[in-house]
Amino acid sequence: MILPQHLAIIMDGNGRWAQLKGLPRIAGHQRGVNTVRNVVKKCANLGVRYLTLYAFSSENWKRPAGEVQALMSLLGVYLESEMELLQENGIRLQVIGDLTKLPEKISKSLQHSVSTTQENSGMTLTLALSYGARDEIVRATQRLMIDVNAGKIVVADISEESFSAYLDTATMPDPDLLIRTSGEMRISNFLLWQSAYTELYFCSCFWPEFDDEQLQLALEDYSGRCRRFGAVVTSDCQQQGEFEEKAN
Ligand code: IPE
Ligand code: IPE
Ligand code: MG
Repeated sequence: MILPQHLAIIMDGNGRWAQLKGLPRIAGHQRGVNTVRNVVKKCANLGVRYLTLYAFSSENWKRPAGEVQALMSLLGVYLESEMELLQENGIRLQVIGDLTKLPEKISKSLQHSVSTTQENSGMTLTLALSYGARDEIVRATQRLMIDVNAGKIVVADISEESFSAYLDTATMPDPDLLIRTSGEMRISNFLLWQSAYTELYFCSCFWPEFDDEQLQLALEDYSGRCRRFGAVVTSDCQQQGEFEEKAN
């Protein structure tokens, strides 16, 4: 099976999962953390190099204060409880988003986890927190303009490549596969620049229900895709198809 080098996931449907069970939305977020733990471990074991999880969007600040607070405190608990798993599996933690908006305690805890796992050479786990792709592009442009004004880069040298280096994702490749759970078929302001040629996979199950089998289905589907990047079909695509047949 051909694995995505970079898998990105929009973890959606915690609230609806809980509501269907007659539970408060936050119970869905709590269950969602179990899915995160499982998916992180599974992807690291499979050999995925980059896993990026959309955990909190720049628009999620519009939610009721109680829910935002509960999500922040779950994040704090997650960071403490998962350090062992990250270290045992050689996982390097990174964060993208406007981190200046996060509560100070969470921000400190994140800095600690990121620096503790910095030298790990296994999978890079990136949490998108207070992240919005439009906001990221605006922040990148601001940094770029500062460098233009300082004479560090000239306008004629601004290219797709040099612009990418100002994005939060500067150190990682573009996502190969983007999974969204919960049946919603939209991007919700996630990695707009980076997903120009990403394969999209929508799964109807809610995030707390996304298990190994669901992940496997998504990866198998990806493995059978023919990526052309605007060019003409190559024999690689056929090999990909044949490989999938053998794997079945
Ligand atoms: C995803 O689940 C988690 C976050 C956005 C933080 P939701 O909370 O969006 O759950 P639904 O989509 O309302 O069911
Ligand atoms: C996207 O889910 C953000 C995260 C999963 C963190 P939302 O639930 O916020 O997206 P919309 O509002 O349905 O588009
Ligand atoms: Mg949602």
